[in-house]
Amino acid sequence: MDETFTARLDGVTKYYNSDGKGVAALRDINFSARKGEMTLLLGPSGSGKTTFLTLLAGMQRPTSGDVYLFGMRTADYSPVELQSMRARRIGFVFQNFLLLDSFPVLQNIMMVMTFAGSGLEAARKTSLSYLEKLGIGNLAGSMPSAISYGEKQRVAVARALVNGAELIIADEPTGSLASQQGMKIIEMLKECSVGENRCVIIASHDERIITFADKVIRLSDGEIV
Ligand SMILES: Nc1ncnc2c1ncn2[C@@H]1O[C@H](COP(=O)(O)OP(=O)(O)O)[C@@H](O)[C@H]1O
Ligand SMILES: [Mg+2]
Repeated sequence: MDETFTARLDGVTKYYNSDGKGVAALRDINFSARKGEMTLLLGPSGSGKTTFLTLLAGMQRPTSGDVYLFGMRTADYSPVELQSMRARRIGFVFQNFLLLDSFPVLQNIMMVMTFAGSGLEAARKTSLSYLEKLGIGNLAGSMPSAISYGEKQRVAVARALVNGAELIIADEPTGSLASQQGMKIIEMLKECSVGENRCVIIASHDERIITFADKVIRLSDGEIV
């Protein structure tokens, strides 16, 4: 297995309609990212950023081309293997957070750790420490419906980082945050790549993030420009 790249897209095209006609959401994309590297994916709304990230995370399949994760073609994983690998090795910050509304904030974070095999106490301690790092330790017992968008966004970031995943993918992780808080999140993600040798990929249309990135990819109408 070639693990030179943490994640790679090889000639990837994605159509959302099953007949492969109409407009491609992504067209013939080649991309690779390594440990210790932070990539910024820039592009306006509709340019294909979310499609790019969800394909890269193995959350959907390309119409053509290949996706590689940790040196292996995702098409060669069974669905169960892929799910288990994602739970342990990939942290994803969803654009719309996807918090579970019937569980308090702390449980939302702890459950990804227990799902990946952590004991309860370790999960509680680590989850709390991430909430505190993000300045929302006081919200541990709150229900997601009772917190603001910016706070939900930080919970989503904590959840993506808490497992120590080698690949962190963040879809517009600063979209709901005041600029200072947003930059704090970017600094945290940067520390994941520099200090913890993780592979970090961020989609955004915030040009201020450019200075933090090792690599900038610009998408326009589904193509790298
Ligand atoms: N589930 C879907 N079904 C059909 N079309 C979609 C779907 N998701 C995205 N698209 C289309 O694919 C294109 C790229 O979307 P997306 O990847 O969400 O871009 P971005 O994240 O940059 O806003 C857009 O034209 C969008 O309308
Ligand atoms: Mg998007």
